[in-house]
Amino acid sequence: MSERRKLVAGNWKMNGGLAANQALVQALRGGVGQPVCDVAVCPPPVYLAQLQQLLAGQAAIALGAQDVSQHEGGAFTGDVSAAMLKDFGVRYAIVGHSERRQYQGETDLQVATKVKRALAAGITPIVCVGETLSEREQGLTEFIVRRQLSAVIQLNGPCISEIVVAYEPVWAIGTGKTATPTEAQAVHAVLRTQLRAATEQADRVRILYGGSMNAANAAELLAQPDIDGGLIGGAALKAPDFLTIVAAAA
Ligand code: PGA
Repeated sequence: MSERRKLVAGNWKMNGGLAANQALVQALRGGVGQPVCDVAVCPPPVYLAQLQQLLAGQAAIALGAQDVSQHEGGAFTGDVSAAMLKDFGVRYAIVGHSERRQYQGETDLQVATKVKRALAAGITPIVCVGETLSEREQGLTEFIVRRQLSAVIQLNGPCISEIVVAYEPVWAIGTGKTATPTEAQAVHAVLRTQLRAATEQADRVRILYGGSMNAANAAELLAQPDIDGGLIGGAALKAPDFLTIVAAAA
């Protein structure tokens, strides 16, 4: 447990702009100090170059992407490859976010392939898993998250210890409804057990919680034994809120 350094990653989703990004990064750089956890921001891909420049000369805040292509390169209009992300200093890539599974029809196999591409390029994938409200109500939470993670394990084998997992119950994303610390910890423990069956390094793997984590509820969630950080949406767009969550990960 203790050997895992927490990670707080901001998922900006399709928000921001040149001026807003600059103001936000300035506030984050000014307030972050020397965090005892890892911190990352994941802007939309067109702003990665801007963010690389804005984050230059400091080590506290790393750069992340919100997605990565499952292909290495070639005729895939609109896709961005892992190697291209690497060119811009990207350290993390969110993979299989529920919004992409839902709106872009990403399958478990595509997500697993994206993980492979990211790892091959030296980028740490943040692999999102999570159940919908109806799946939870049917008692399928464990089945769903295990199925989603299983695809990633199967395709990536021992490399699995290099990933970050994010448990994001779909019903908690952007809704203001958070899983209780106990509910979240229970699912994190399931995922940890699944990782242990796949790798001896499972205790190194960070499992983040995401879904309406905010300045007020972060400390309690982050105090759970298997919650190793947060994937933050809405609260990542407000510097004071995001910095409060970073401080709570101490
Ligand atoms: P939220 O989003 O914090 O706004 O709920 C989290 C996410 O989708 O990663």
